[in-house]
Amino acid sequence: DKIVLAYSGGLDTSVAVKWINETYNMDVIAYTCDLGQGQDIQAIRDKALRTGAIDAVAEDARNLFIDYFCWPSLMAGALYEGKYPLATALGRPLIAQLMVRVAREHGAVAVAHGCTGKGNDQVRFDVTFQTLAPDLKIVAPVREWKWTRTQELEYAASHGIEVEATKKSIYSTDQNLWGRSIEAGILEDPWVEPPADAFQWTTDPREAPDEPEEVEITFDRGRPSAINGREMDGIELIDAANKVAGRHGVGRIDHIENRLVGIKSREIYEAPAAVLLHQAHRELEFLTLSKESIRFKENVSQTYADLIYNGLWFSQLHQDLMAFTVSNQQYVSGTVRLKLYKGSAMVVGRKSENSLYRHELATYEEGDQYDSTAAMGFIKIHGLGQTTQAKHQLLKPGS
Ligand code: ARG
Ligand code: SIN
Repeated sequence: DKIVLAYSGGLDTSVAVKWINETYNMDVIAYTCDLGQGQDIQAIRDKALRTGAIDAVAEDARNLFIDYFCWPSLMAGALYEGKYPLATALGRPLIAQLMVRVAREHGAVAVAHGCTGKGNDQVRFDVTFQTLAPDLKIVAPVREWKWTRTQELEYAASHGIEVEATKKSIYSTDQNLWGRSIEAGILEDPWVEPPADAFQWTTDPREAPDEPEEVEITFDRGRPSAINGREMDGIELIDAANKVAGRHGVGRIDHIENRLVGIKSREIYEAPAAVLLHQAHRELEFLTLSKESIRFKENVSQTYADLIYNGLWFSQLHQDLMAFTVSNQQYVSGTVRLKLYKGSAMVVGRKSENSLYRHELATYEEGDQYDSTAAMGFIKIHGLGQTTQAKHQLLKPGS
């Protein structure tokens, strides 16, 4: 029988190839996709074959990831607990979906991933598999073998599995073009400031350029379309945003987050592009959405973020929220100008053809079309409930 394993090229999933062979007597097809994590997926594919996989599939899924996962989450304003742009959480359902396709093409009977038993990622993989392919058996070696690090290294040594000569990272990390997630090691103490070596995509703000840099981001119906006036495709745009924000130390997040499995964990993120784009996008919404839409959308953003975080991407609720979001974003087109400086991004300008900010209504100068006399009647009616109470209840004047 064949099994498709989500293969990263790291120690866990390399050991998993052999462990699945021995424990389940199944042939492993390694699956690796490029989500912009900055690794050579062909090299990872080769390693899978050397490690004992009977076949290995490596493919570029960056455009799928951006168009169907990153952009929708940005349009929806999805930040988990108001902070985390969800890079890892968005990647899981796509990887699982693509693995199911590979499993079908190869007639596999099972799928496998290298997640631990105490994280969110296992939930996202398993729920997606169970939703899209309930007949496939799910194997989770790391969750099942329950080894210590030392036991795992012993198994690797006795089975001739390559362990990188370079010192193993002291953190557990995951990354794709939407951001990096960094946890474990010293970061488990929430009082400890993240050491410099936790970060790879963002400059320490103290070492960032001494001159601020302005960047203009243009959106078309909620989707980013250009930077500094230059139209770019999604890959190029996110790459450019990661570079410019990262250079100025923008995009670091330190989060004590509520995992789905009931524990709080301390997670560090660096997501320069996602942080910059979310900030710019939200600003454009302030210019182009009505007050009522902005108020209502807060609920949508939070629900959307929760369902991504909780692994419920392939749900009807998501379809419903997406339909709302697409409609809600139809006038969110325009440009936002931000100033990047030593760890901060400040919005300094915004414009849109669909702007609801009307100078002729807002101005105190020449050309004012706002009717101030109408304000008096409005104020009387607006305050009527409260003035009535004051007259007849507790707030009676003089009492
Ligand atoms: N806590 C984050 C999430 O649930 C990131 C998990 C990423 N994994 C890691 N090895 N750091 O989305
Ligand atoms: C893991 O447990 O595999 C990583 C952390 C998480 O999923 O939250």
